[in-house]
Amino acid sequence: MRFDMAKADDAAGQEPVINGKTGTPAARGAAPKKAWEGRFTGGPDALAERFTASIGFDQRLAEVDIQGSIAHAEMLGRCGIISLEDAASIGRGLQGLLEDVLQGSVEWDLSAEDIHMNVERKLYERIGEAAGRLHTARSRNDQVATDTRLWLRSQLDTIEGEIRRLQETLLALSEEHFGAILPGYTHTQHAQPILLAHHLLGYFWMLERDRERAAECRARVNILPLGAGAMAGTPHPIDREFVARKLGFDSVSPNSMDAVSDRDFVIETISHASILMMHLSRLCNELVLWQSREFSFIMMDDSMTTGSSIMPQKKNPDVAELVRGKTGRVYGDLMAVLTVMKGLPLTYNSDMQEDKERLFDAIDTERACLAVTDRLLRTTHFRTDRMESAISGDYSTATDLADLLVRKGKPFREAHAIVGQLVHQAEVSGKSLEELSVEELAAISPLLGEDARECLQPRASVAARQSQGGTAPDSVSEQIRLARERLSGG
Ligand code: ARG
Repeated sequence: MRFDMAKADDAAGQEPVINGKTGTPAARGAAPKKAWEGRFTGGPDALAERFTASIGFDQRLAEVDIQGSIAHAEMLGRCGIISLEDAASIGRGLQGLLEDVLQGSVEWDLSAEDIHMNVERKLYERIGEAAGRLHTARSRNDQVATDTRLWLRSQLDTIEGEIRRLQETLLALSEEHFGAILPGYTHTQHAQPILLAHHLLGYFWMLERDRERAAECRARVNILPLGAGAMAGTPHPIDREFVARKLGFDSVSPNSMDAVSDRDFVIETISHASILMMHLSRLCNELVLWQSREFSFIMMDDSMTTGSSIMPQKKNPDVAELVRGKTGRVYGDLMAVLTVMKGLPLTYNSDMQEDKERLFDAIDTERACLAVTDRLLRTTHFRTDRMESAISGDYSTATDLADLLVRKGKPFREAHAIVGQLVHQAEVSGKSLEELSVEELAAISPLLGEDARECLQPRASVAARQSQGGTAPDSVSEQIRLARERLSGG
């Protein structure tokens, strides 16, 4: 009953069963309808065919699939597994197909299931019988793993550049607004004044690690599975090193079962994407807050916001909100692939076909979010006057006073208690720390004088934090130098 062609409604318009008692088209030397039809006595159920087909999404692998096949065919010819004439004819046919694919003039066929069999069928239409020799010494299992790795490698290379671009933007903004100060927060409460550059550079370093993770993913992606066959290797005298060199892989996989089985490189890349999205989401969330009336630290360009359908005054930070929202989507992609893989026995299982849409979605989302966040930052106006005035009267230089007492010999705990008392008194009398007179300061501790008034100024507080990696202008200048060095590969 498996291939009973009981006419389902949705089978309308489908071609009739192709297998007949007289032998399969392939056995008769004609282009096979299904690559695997030999073993079957009936055609597929239309519903099952649609359900199992992946051409709807894996057509994105067309280019790399053809490139992989060109290398494979050349290897087959050189190793004497197929004739040099057949290898040359296959190579020419695939090259022509590749050009047409790049022009967008090729239409894929659902009945050929996936991109691998579609390419083979198109090749058959172009060069005839020799096309039937291309699949020697290979399986779709090692082929799809090869395609996915080739596709992902080039995506990771592009992503590396896209992360770098966003890092450049953060660096440029840090330099442009070098002197600007704003409150730094812990627990979403004013903590200590900082340079805006220091805040922005915080994201630079997060993205630096994202870039490193992408490079590390790339190194593990760039290993050739082709030659693993279905899973046990092949009896043909293939040359995997040749194919690896042709396709730019660093090495060949050492175990054919591992080669066709694992999708850890997909999971690892989506993990990288998830972590990067988490960083973008935090940045965008801050931009959403900063754009609010309460903060008004920035003004997003009109072009990067949208209006409300009901409230005429609204200017909504949709772009930033959506980057935040799409982060959840990439996490979902990660969970999906992790879950698909968790119970699969070695080696290939069709479940693994589910990796591709999630991978494509994660990569597309990551790239779109990188691009749009970069544009958002570059078009946003930073209201540095508002940032600085947000510090005034916020008691955020209290630590500086405690540090002054420490320099005068007080243990930090004691100094903390003294300043705590001072903050309480100031709060009760409705004054800011900067407004306290020398007398008021001296009343709390004889160690506090004019120098105490000075160190309570936000700019003095920032300038004092000269420790390595601190927010003082000197430290931040050094940080910018380091950042530039990193971007130039140093
Ligand atoms: N479309 C399949 C995938 O995406 C290709 C490999 C199919 N292999 C097989 N034996 N059915 O994973």
